[in-house]
Amino acid sequence: MQVKGFAKKILLWYKNHGRKNLPWQRNKTLYRVWISEVMLQQTSVSTVVPYFERFVIRFPDIKALSMSSLDDILYLWTGLGYYLRARNLYKSAQVIVSEHDGIFPTRLEEVLALPGIGRSTAGAILSLTLGKSLPILDANVKRILTRYFSISGWPGLPGIEKKLWSISTAITPFSNTGEYNQAMMDLGALICTKFNPRCLACPIYRGCNSHINSSWMEYPEKKPRVIRPSQKIWFLLIQKGEKIWMQKRPLHGIWSGLFCFPQYESELELRLSIKQYVLSDCQSYQMDLIRHTFSHLCLDIIPVVVKVSSISETNHYGVGLWYNLLHPPVVGLAAPIARLLNILRYSTYMI
Ligand code: ADE
Repeated sequence: MQVKGFAKKILLWYKNHGRKNLPWQRNKTLYRVWISEVMLQQTSVSTVVPYFERFVIRFPDIKALSMSSLDDILYLWTGLGYYLRARNLYKSAQVIVSEHDGIFPTRLEEVLALPGIGRSTAGAILSLTLGKSLPILDANVKRILTRYFSISGWPGLPGIEKKLWSISTAITPFSNTGEYNQAMMDLGALICTKFNPRCLACPIYRGCNSHINSSWMEYPEKKPRVIRPSQKIWFLLIQKGEKIWMQKRPLHGIWSGLFCFPQYESELELRLSIKQYVLSDCQSYQMDLIRHTFSHLCLDIIPVVVKVSSISETNHYGVGLWYNLLHPPVVGLAAPIARLLNILRYSTYMI
């Protein structure tokens, strides 16, 4: 392994080029770094910054988070995706209050026991905030290590991941671990990028196998392609003036606990429902199809808008609310739902 001086070069690069003024690096606390690291899972820094800032204003500490409602948290998470992360933050806040007197734990095993925190996130939180000597292995680090050491195989495979963890552990320095880990994440985000890496600006390019062999595009290997099944669903958007009927999804399955339009498996089901429940004469029209991709499924959503002039506000569509397009209530929405509401708001009221 060409690891001699690896950490030293990385740390020197960080001193001159690393990011030191991100919102969670100011007034650094375990709470703020925890929130940021969870938001940064599968999401880029530029997307996270405004979400983080809103979140810590609304929930400045663990106590405030634990005393909130899941709906309030999901509202602030709207558009960030991977809503399980928000649910896990909420659950973790309850655990921290009940088992750690409301103080974020500092022992690795205790942090790992919190819902939604894996080894890399735990290592990042404790090293960035307290300087603990713990390695990380996020997507940035995986990209740097697979290129530097030309490691073949998809990094998500248990055997490859194990190998990467042992390399990361071996090259992570005992001191300045927080700066080193932040440097690796910054190097991955700014220099050793997925496409067109800036190798000549990289502090470790001389020892990097992928630079020497011009093979950066071969690493990390991609996940073997999965063909996602696709499914068509119909949404019924009952519009009464500036209000749209929405229902809370059950607490299991996709978009659990978020607000959504009544959903049908077929157009026939949707039409029957309209006939059955929407009593007044109504016009309906179909909006453009929206495709939403999950890791396991491709959803083709066909929205049908029914405009009604009178419908009982306590109608037959189950537990829900009349969502006011002009005065949106504080509720969590999945990304395609927020997108549809925006289209309706603009097409109806903003032209
Ligand atoms: N990705 C995950 N954690 C990060 C951090 N602390 N800084 C930049 N990118 C990250």
